[in-house]
Amino acid sequence: MNASSRPIGVFDSGIGGLSVLQALQNALPHEHFVYLADNAHAPYGEKTDLQVRLRTHAITEHLLAQHQIKALVVACNTATAAAIHELRTRHPQLPVVGVEPALKPAVALSQTGHIGVMATRGTVASDKFARLLDSVEGQAQFTVQACNGLALAIEQSTLPQHADEAQQGIIELLSQYTSAMGSFGKSPGQMDTLVLGCTHYVFVKNQLRALLGVDVQLVSTGEAVARQTRRLLEAAGLLRSDPGPQSAAKRIGLFTTGDLRGLQAAAQLWLGLPPEACHKAPPQV
Ligand code: DGL
Repeated sequence: MNASSRPIGVFDSGIGGLSVLQALQNALPHEHFVYLADNAHAPYGEKTDLQVRLRTHAITEHLLAQHQIKALVVACNTATAAAIHELRTRHPQLPVVGVEPALKPAVALSQTGHIGVMATRGTVASDKFARLLDSVEGQAQFTVQACNGLALAIEQSTLPQHADEAQQGIIELLSQYTSAMGSFGKSPGQMDTLVLGCTHYVFVKNQLRALLGVDVQLVSTGEAVARQTRRLLEAAGLLRSDPGPQSAAKRIGLFTTGDLRGLQAAAQLWLGLPPEACHKAPPQV
């Protein structure tokens, strides 16, 4: 197989990274993707740094050995914060793209100069996030909220048997966290921009809009990550020139280390992919 026809690996602790996969598919329609949801070890945001780094390395090794990926997208803010530096050192030949809370784009968008950031505890506590905050110091006021439990509730909301309860849990967590952050709106001093610093949170945009009103801008990173992936592939001469004979659904393989039904439900709901696109990852991952 020539190098450019190999797939792009994408992973997250669970189904949150599907929000990034959506953007990747739109920006790179010819590419093939292998997505790994590490549900058996989710949520990453409430694990130690070491645990997240070990999972990141195990998954990357697996994607390289079993799927011969040509590039890796770490579709998880928490894993990016904990492990991207080490990952690039270990795999200097592999183009690696990570995600981080979109603070700079939020500064450009905000009129009131007060920006909210929601992310996992792991991301908020990381050195990488501290450096990111430093890099925008003085450009806006930031109110940062660690959102324990939210990624997990979003995971559970796709399963029909838990959907109602999980939706209720999501609304409660969102109200609790956004009220702890302060006041949202367009008036002076209010937060008019909210950064979604976890890839899972993209899937509760509607609930956030209902709570905060349509004036508050919600900022996520999927599109920017997809553009960066495209740039790296182009620079490395690894862009696929045609999609090949397979149907769109066959160009994406989704794997989970956990419960297959959750991934199937999310893939159908959010990407319109059939259940056959989803598989159990081998036990050694
Ligand atoms: N989706 C992930 C992120 O972007 C992690 C959520 C979790 O597992 O805690 O941070």
